[in-house]
Amino acid sequence: MSDGIDLRKMRFLPDSITMPFKRDGLDPLPDLARVRAEAPVTRLTELFGKGIWLVSGYDEARAALADRSSYSHDIRQFVSMEGRSASEQIGGLGMTDPPDHTVLRRYLTPEFTRHRLARLEPAIKAVVDARLDAMAAAGPVVDLVEQFAFPIPFEVICELLGLPVEDRDDFRRLGVARFDLAQGGVGIFGSAAHTREFLIRSVAAQRGNPGEGLIGALLRDHGDDLDDVTLGGLADGVFLGGYETSASMLALGTYLLTENRGAMELLRSDDGAATRVIEEMLRHLTVVQVAFMRFARHDVELGGQHIKAGDVVGISLLGANRDDLLSPGADRFDPTRPPTRHLAFGHGMHRCVGAELARMELVIALRSLAERFPDLEVAAAPDDLDFRKMSAVYGLESLPVHLYGHALVDCGA
Ligand code: HEM
Repeated sequence: MSDGIDLRKMRFLPDSITMPFKRDGLDPLPDLARVRAEAPVTRLTELFGKGIWLVSGYDEARAALADRSSYSHDIRQFVSMEGRSASEQIGGLGMTDPPDHTVLRRYLTPEFTRHRLARLEPAIKAVVDARLDAMAAAGPVVDLVEQFAFPIPFEVICELLGLPVEDRDDFRRLGVARFDLAQGGVGIFGSAAHTREFLIRSVAAQRGNPGEGLIGALLRDHGDDLDDVTLGGLADGVFLGGYETSASMLALGTYLLTENRGAMELLRSDDGAATRVIEEMLRHLTVVQVAFMRFARHDVELGGQHIKAGDVVGISLLGANRDDLLSPGADRFDPTRPPTRHLAFGHGMHRCVGAELARMELVIALRSLAERFPDLEVAAAPDDLDFRKMSAVYGLESLPVHLYGHALVDCGA
């Protein structure tokens, strides 16, 4: 821990810092565009004697993400570990610096190649079809978040990791609170400890008898080099990266499709068009609103600003992806837009390791949904939709939908 800062003890975060984590429906608050226009690299405030910076321009965000030497990801310097057990040590790939990051990432990368992921495709299709059947049975009005958006990525991650079916309910309960910034540092780190602990136990249980998933594969190939805590932390990083993000994309993506019937049709038409719809959706929604915090290792110039050693740098991926420099009218969702680069999966050495899996999952799930329920409509007035108030991963708490349309009539609204 450095300079007496302990994020675990912070129950409230200052407003200037929380602005990039808030939205109006699917869109960033107008303040984000204003700040980006005034200065794409802005000093928001000071906390515990450190400058807190926001990077919101596309070029500046990409440059910071690509800079391998100027920033540390190691948030552990701001979190007291006194009296904490091994399972409470926070970590995972996203919060680890080279050389450890390089070593750990090398273990994971082979498990996420297209070739290895192809083995998951039938499982993903089966999970999606089962959810669509369950929705049809429960309908015509269902909560899409509960019935579709969360269960699909959850089952996919469990398949990927190779978690036994009988353990999955316990694991599910631990997953949700961890991204909720409304609880300040305490909520985030408290629940993080629980999922890690669960996965460390799961690794220990598989050590004598490795299963078919990623945990088993890593135990078979590198079991002697990876202790239970390290491998549990790695698995937790995969869970952290893959669950809530994909769930949010499915929920917000469905909402976006109901508002853009043309995109819904494009999604059904052919593989190429479906891929383009999903890519534009990733850019427009940018559910990981701000990348992992970066900490300046030394004084660094970025976007004409002087960031001091030790300062904290937040990179607004949403701000960058809505920058008109990237594509004219970037604030609009336009699935016919020419292919556009974006930072929804980050960039550089910490770029999302699960990007191909996420794309595969989104195309299969949303395309199947659009084929099965082409007239699906949201069964609530826009003002009643329950968007997350403030969270690292943006999303919807619930999304009532009518599977066959005419939602408001049937709901008596
Ligand atoms: C649409 C869904 C997803 C989105 C939008 C997304 C977004 C991101 C972003 C923006 C980062 C980089 C953060 C940074 O540089 O600070 C990241 C990293 C990561 N993601 Fe994803 N992700 C998604 C799905 C997944 C999936 C399905 C997995 C695995 C099953 C995954 C695993 C990871 C891991 C392990 C990292 C850390 C990589 C590193 O630090 O080297 N993500 N993700």
